Amino acid sequence: MAANKPYLLVSYLLFLFLFNLNSLLLVRSTPIQCTATERRALIILREALTDPSGRLSSWSGEDCCTWKGIKCHNQTGRVTELDLRNPYHLINGDRTSYKSSCLGGEINSSLLQLEQITYLDLSLNDFEGLEIPQFFGELKSLRYLNLSFASFAGEIPASLENLWSLEYLDLYADSFSSTGPRELRSQSLEWLTPLSSLKYLNLGFSKLDGVADHWLHTLNMLPSLVELRLHWCELQGLPLTLPSINFTSLSVLDLSENSFNSVFPQWLFNLTGLTELYLTWDFFSGSIPAEFANLKNLRVLDLSDNLNLEGQIPEFFGNLSKLEFLDLSANNFHGDIYELFSGFSGSPNNKLETLDLSSNLLIGELPNSLGSVKHLQHLDLSSNSFWGSIPTSIGSLSKLIKLDLSYNMMNGTIPESLGELSWLVDLNLMANSWNGILKETHFMNLRKLENVRLTTEPTSSLVFGVSDGWSPPFKLKSIQLENCMVGPSFPLWLQVQNQLTSVILKNVGISDTIPGKWFSLVSAQVNYLVLSQNRIRGELPDQLSYPNLNLIDLSCNNFGGPFPSWSTNATDVLLHENSFSGPIPENIGALMPRLKKLYVSRNHLSGRIPSSVCDIEGLNIVSLRNNMFSGQLPNCWHRSFVLWGIDVSNNSLTGNIPSSLGFLPSLSVLLLSNNNLDGEIPSSLGNCSGLTSVDLGGNKMSGTLPLWVQNLSSLFMLRLGSNLLSGNIPDEWCRLQNVHILDISGNNISGPIPKCIGNLTALVNGKGSDVFEGLIKVVTRGRDPEYNSVEANVNSIDLSSNHLSGEIPVEMANLIALRILNLSHNHLSGPIPKSLASLPSLIGLDLSDNNFSGSIPFVTRFNNSSIYEGNPLLCGTPLPTKCPLPI
Ligand SMILES: *[C@@H]1O[C@H](CO)[C@@H](O)[C@H](O)[C@H]1NC(C)=O
Ligand SMILES: *[C@@H]1O[C@H](CO)[C@@H](O)[C@H](O)[C@H]1NC(C)=O
Ligand SMILES: *[C@@H]1O[C@H](CO)[C@@H](O)[C@H](O)[C@H]1NC(C)=O
Ligand SMILES: *[C@@H]1O[C@H](CO)[C@@H](O)[C@H](O)[C@H]1NC(C)=O
Ligand SMILES: *[C@@H]1O[C@H](CO)[C@@H](O)[C@H](O)[C@H]1NC(C)=O
Ligand SMILES: *[C@@H]1O[C@H](CO)[C@@H](O)[C@H](O)[C@H]1NC(C)=O
Ligand SMILES: *[C@@H]1O[C@H](CO)[C@@H](O)[C@H](O)[C@H]1NC(C)=O
Repeated sequence: MAANKPYLLVSYLLFLFLFNLNSLLLVRSTPIQCTATERRALIILREALTDPSGRLSSWSGEDCCTWKGIKCHNQTGRVTELDLRNPYHLINGDRTSYKSSCLGGEINSSLLQLEQITYLDLSLNDFEGLEIPQFFGELKSLRYLNLSFASFAGEIPASLENLWSLEYLDLYADSFSSTGPRELRSQSLEWLTPLSSLKYLNLGFSKLDGVADHWLHTLNMLPSLVELRLHWCELQGLPLTLPSINFTSLSVLDLSENSFNSVFPQWLFNLTGLTELYLTWDFFSGSIPAEFANLKNLRVLDLSDNLNLEGQIPEFFGNLSKLEFLDLSANNFHGDIYELFSGFSGSPNNKLETLDLSSNLLIGELPNSLGSVKHLQHLDLSSNSFWGSIPTSIGSLSKLIKLDLSYNMMNGTIPESLGELSWLVDLNLMANSWNGILKETHFMNLRKLENVRLTTEPTSSLVFGVSDGWSPPFKLKSIQLENCMVGPSFPLWLQVQNQLTSVILKNVGISDTIPGKWFSLVSAQVNYLVLSQNRIRGELPDQLSYPNLNLIDLSCNNFGGPFPSWSTNATDVLLHENSFSGPIPENIGALMPRLKKLYVSRNHLSGRIPSSVCDIEGLNIVSLRNNMFSGQLPNCWHRSFVLWGIDVSNNSLTGNIPSSLGFLPSLSVLLLSNNNLDGEIPSSLGNCSGLTSVDLGGNKMSGTLPLWVQNLSSLFMLRLGSNLLSGNIPDEWCRLQNVHILDISGNNISGPIPKCIGNLTALVNGKGSDVFEGLIKVVTRGRDPEYNSVEANVNSIDLSSNHLSGEIPVEMANLIALRILNLSHNHLSGPIPKSLASLPSLIGLDLSDNNFSGSIPFVTRFNNSSIYEGNPLLCGTPLPTKCPLPI
């Protein structure tokens, strides 16, 4: 073979010589100009197009061959190429430039005058659903046709079957049209049959659901096909066998996102020339067939998101010596990965750069042979059940850029060799149970590190053991550390990070004061700032502008001083469980206009709740409980259509409950307990049909129990205890189909317990409380001991400490999900219905201080005598009074 080389070189030089001679001769003769006909045709074409950015403005002058996007034959001057592709791409470019550079409008048939055109590119424009013109079928010289990303729609014209010379056809239909999604369709692919020169075919996003199984047979007849892309074509059914395989030149096959729901077809493994194979989201099932080993030329194999693929990941992937990219994520693969890696370590020349096994059911320790996949740049093993330590050999992966082991059960240590990964940019070790001590060597050469996520269980022990003066080699962009020990002082290595855009340091044992300079710098540049669950002290800088801040969470610390009067676009401000004092700034609505969630519970805040909160249109949640707010709740609620949670419990608010709360159509959780609110419950609340949780307990509300409550069909919790309410329990309340917690204790309610109480369906079937409990927890942040009682009180009725009289209705025994019943401190009389003893869920009962009579029906349960006390006419266990023997 080597002997041929000099000969090749000589002929090459000869070729160059002749070629140059040729072009020299050409330059000397008069320059070839475009023909007048073609020039005119182009002008007509341009006039029919819209061109907002004027990128065809160079289309003037005599010689159309010099116009932008046009190429002519260098001897005849006939137009051979028309390239009108948008120079901007939306995916990685800026939207405005892209949009203004989009051509649109009509495509005039004057195009047909360009009889010798071989190349036509109209991609990345916006033809707003125009059909592909029929007459394109007459452009018989075309070898290249690209209409991708151009918002063509409708049936692909069968006339394209005349383009016998076509080698490249791209109709990829995912468009960025300003006027909505566009779709190309084809009922049959027969029009492709004559295109025997076709090498590249992309019909991605075309709707081919009507073409039946036959589609593959048609494509199989294209002997030159090298690249076939049918991403998201709604193809129905994949033939499992083919009588013969004719498209043997196939190198790239993309059938992704077609939901085939089958096993792998046999013919696939005869395509031994394949270099790239994309079969994501096709719902292939079964295990990986051994025949995959035939595909020795594979560079890229993507089997992700099939959800159903299972079995052990086989060893032979290691033998595919050209494999660079292997994605098996989001499947059901199980077992360990020892075999797979022994495959790679048995092929020292493996070229694997990307390995994604995330979201499977893989288990076991990570093998030390990991280090033999020397070219790895991206390794994602997240969301499996791997355990143990990271093998020391990780340090051999000297090209690693991204390492993701998050969401596993890693319960060992992180080796110091990690510090050798000098190309590492992204390190995600979150949601594991790491142990051990991280030293400076762990980070020694991580010069490129930008993003670190390292969170562990509060029960494991991971300590940052770097020295105080350590100067790290990296400049981080984002950091997330949770439940590991970084403190007690605010580490210097963090203070020198000045490129951060996201900071999460949650429960990392910092008890220092906050370094003011760093804090101001970071708050000015980051989007996320979370320093919750530490014991950080000190005041925050006041009166600053942090326009980039999206979320700030300083909850559960010892921050003091005034509420930060920051001007910010933050949507989430979480300052609860600190020692902030003084008022919330009067102009909070102007300072924080984008606010969605405001949590300041458990501080020492005081003063009025500023009415400018009503101006914040996007507000979702206001959580102010356990402070010292006073004055009236502002009565200005009319703007926010998304406010669904208000919690101002345990403050010193006075006055009425504002009727304007009834203007909040999405109000779901309203917690106003333990204040000094008075007056009647405003009937406007009857408009808030989405109310799930209402707690007005511990106030001075008066009036009768409102009838309109019956209309709150989502009500899960209704607590009106310890107020001054009077009147009867209305029968209408029996229609509360979702109520799981009913508390009207400690009022002046009189009359009987309605017989219809057995109609409280939620207490009959007991279902559907999770969602509501969740809602309350979001508003109260769930950490509140008081609201742990919500969970404890699900399925309870508390009517105690009122003036109720009459007997316990036997219908109460219908409430088979009832867990707690408190009827104490009333004037109820008569026997305790025997049927109550059969309530299977009842665990809490109090009947004390009434006038019940007769025998206690509970045989083994409820034998604490105090719950029957103060009923002189009751007898039987556990009371000392024996019942008279039946005569
Ligand atoms: C495939 O090729 C074989 C012979 O090479 C030929 O007989 C057959 O018709 C071709 N099949 C298709 C579907 O083109
Ligand atoms: C696929 O290859 C196998 C041998 O590897 C051969 O027996 C079979 O006939 C081929 N199938 C087709 C359809 O060509
Ligand atoms: C780690 O987890 C595995 C699997 O659950 C267990 O067998 C092993 O003992 C654990 N190791 C440590 C150090 O806790
Ligand atoms: C409650 O709903 C009924 C119809 O279901 C309606 O007639 C009544 O006006 C409503 N009451 C209130 C206070 O909204
Ligand atoms: C309670 O339910 C029964 C049977 O479904 C019904 O007849 C009765 O009207 C209901 N009572 C009330 C007050 O809704
Ligand atoms: C029932 O309510 C009374 C006061 O209304 C309270 O003192 C008592 O502890 C309650 N009983 C139970 C079992 O919770
Ligand atoms: C208690 O009930 C009995 C009848 O069961 C009645 O005679 C008596 O007057 C009642 N006592 C009080 C204090 O209401």
